[in-house]
Amino acid sequence: MGTVIIDKEICIGCGLCVDVCPYNAIQLVENRAVYVLQDCFSCDHCRSVCPVDAVSVAGLVSGMNFSTFTERAEVVQPGAGGMAEIVALMRSRRSCRRYSGKTVSLSLLKDLVKIGTTAPSGTNSQPWRFSILPERQDVLFLGDLTADYYRNLNRQAQNRALRLLMKLFGRDKLGIYYRKYHDSVQESLREWDEEGRDRLFHGATAVILVAAGSDASCPAEDALLATQNMLLAAHAAGLGSCLVGFAVEAMRRNSSIRKKMKIAEDMDVYTVIGLGYPDVKYMRFSGRRSVVPEILRFN
Ligand SMILES: Cc1cc2nc3c(=O)[nH]c(=O)nc-3n(C[C@H](O)[C@H](O)[C@H](O)COP(=O)(O)O)c2cc1C
Repeated sequence: MGTVIIDKEICIGCGLCVDVCPYNAIQLVENRAVYVLQDCFSCDHCRSVCPVDAVSVAGLVSGMNFSTFTERAEVVQPGAGGMAEIVALMRSRRSCRRYSGKTVSLSLLKDLVKIGTTAPSGTNSQPWRFSILPERQDVLFLGDLTADYYRNLNRQAQNRALRLLMKLFGRDKLGIYYRKYHDSVQESLREWDEEGRDRLFHGATAVILVAAGSDASCPAEDALLATQNMLLAAHAAGLGSCLVGFAVEAMRRNSSIRKKMKIAEDMDVYTVIGLGYPDVKYMRFSGRRSVVPEILRFN
């Protein structure tokens, strides 16, 4: 992890960086901020609060250089952002299962990945890796590999003796799969093979795979938070998106798919995001089951 560099000539000794540091890595010495550790987890808060720009953090890029839109120059302060706009964006994002077929530019896909990295991550480890399948033919390549995986799984699940044997060993997963998914997967495979109908990616023209290092403290949470950022940004950029859990499952269980997708051995895949221009327009926000939070007071 990087080192914090504080320019003594510029520092005014306000102590804001000292207060904000979660690591106690900065102290005021003779009215100037001094970085007293060898390293920290480079959370970048010290640089971000400094009113005179005296701090830099080695190894981090602060400008994201988006190529498909102009970024705002100023930070949105708490309470100053449009609450109604962000909630409307969240409620308007839907899983898209109908695309126009128009290709998404690689620069937009790359911008989405950068947006993904603005998510929080455990100890700022940023353990994610992103792979872009930019065109429909690339999506179909992954689709064929996934279809092969499910063809094989369905064959196993059809074997009653194997299901019983696995149940005997306390692992009824194959039986559960057989009861819940076998028939619909079989029908989807038939449609894929005979009609060219894509019930896996729903015709998405691009895919982003999100993987994360299995040795990170919370790789699943990190990958999923980055994913949600990308889903919201994709909607704002005019794209439809849909998570494809079936493809994640196939990749997790089949190392040869991971290999073909060039996923490193120390990485796990957490999300497969189908993307494309939507060919569907929603007139109403998403409905959700209502929730009643439990209020806990202990005084
Ligand atoms: C982990 C995860 C996996 C999903 N996998 C699939 C999938 O394989 N195929 C699909 O069509 N939708 C998939 N979805 C989308 C959900 O069905 C969808 O989010 C849910 O029905 C709510 O609808 P909305 O996203 O339009 O608000 C997945 C969603 C999540 C969170």
